Amino acid sequence: MATDQEPLIKLDELTKVYRTGDLEVPVLRGIDLEIYPGESLAIMGRSGAGKSTLMNILGCLDRPTGGHYILDGCDIGQLDDDALSTIRGRTIGFVFQSFHLLRNLTVTENVELPMEYQGVAPAERRQRAQELLRRVGLGHRLEHLPQKLSGGERQRVAVARALSNQPRLILADEPTGNLDSAARNRILELFDELQQETGVTLIMVTHDPAIGKDAPRCVIVADGKVVEDRR
Ligand SMILES: Nc1ncnc2c1ncn2[C@@H]1O[C@H](COP(=O)(O)OP(=O)(O)OP(=O)(O)O)[C@@H](O)[C@H]1O
Ligand SMILES: [Mg+2]
Repeated sequence: MATDQEPLIKLDELTKVYRTGDLEVPVLRGIDLEIYPGESLAIMGRSGAGKSTLMNILGCLDRPTGGHYILDGCDIGQLDDDALSTIRGRTIGFVFQSFHLLRNLTVTENVELPMEYQGVAPAERRQRAQELLRRVGLGHRLEHLPQKLSGGERQRVAVARALSNQPRLILADEPTGNLDSAARNRILELFDELQQETGVTLIMVTHDPAIGKDAPRCVIVADGKVVEDRR
């Protein structure tokens, strides 16, 4: 990792407090973190530690309560919803544990959807979706509906969808949580290949100690703080 580079992500005393009625629930309590372009980072920590809360903020799905999230030099907390969704669509690809595929759309249509939001022309987005699906080994399932696929296949569709707008940042929240070991390995290999080919930055939440151990960098979150940052 080059040290003369600017970080892609800089978190400065980041906090998040959820409000439910009169109750305030502090979840992130001052996270400081710098992540550089091309890094591969595993985030670990016990259930309820705040990992998904952090991922939602990193993915511009939610705003911090306090502190700063600087993404590519831009202070995310200062942006309105439209600006946030523009950055999200252009910069970030998500992979969720439970896939989040739309059940009434085919595999190809699911992968096309983020490109449609970005205004990519129909013929081009169809072609790109099919290329990506071949890339993840699903060229023979282009017209299937998601419920006709196995869990591992669905997750590969979700990876293809996350890649559709050529993101600089992939956020994956327990992408292998629901998969058997063969499907898990296939997803991890795919992420490795992508990083080598495109230099994309990858942040992955995982409960799998082997993934944490093999990752070039592993950050452990407990009680809303970073308690360990191992390279
Ligand atoms: N929208 C919300 N409103 C109120 N509290 C919330 C909300 N979302 C999450 N929380 C609380 O914040 C804490 C952290 O939740 P989060 O989902 O970030 O944990 P996590 O580390 O991802 O856990 P897991 O490993 O189980 O996925 C939990 O105690 C949860 O109850
Ligand atoms: Mg979670």
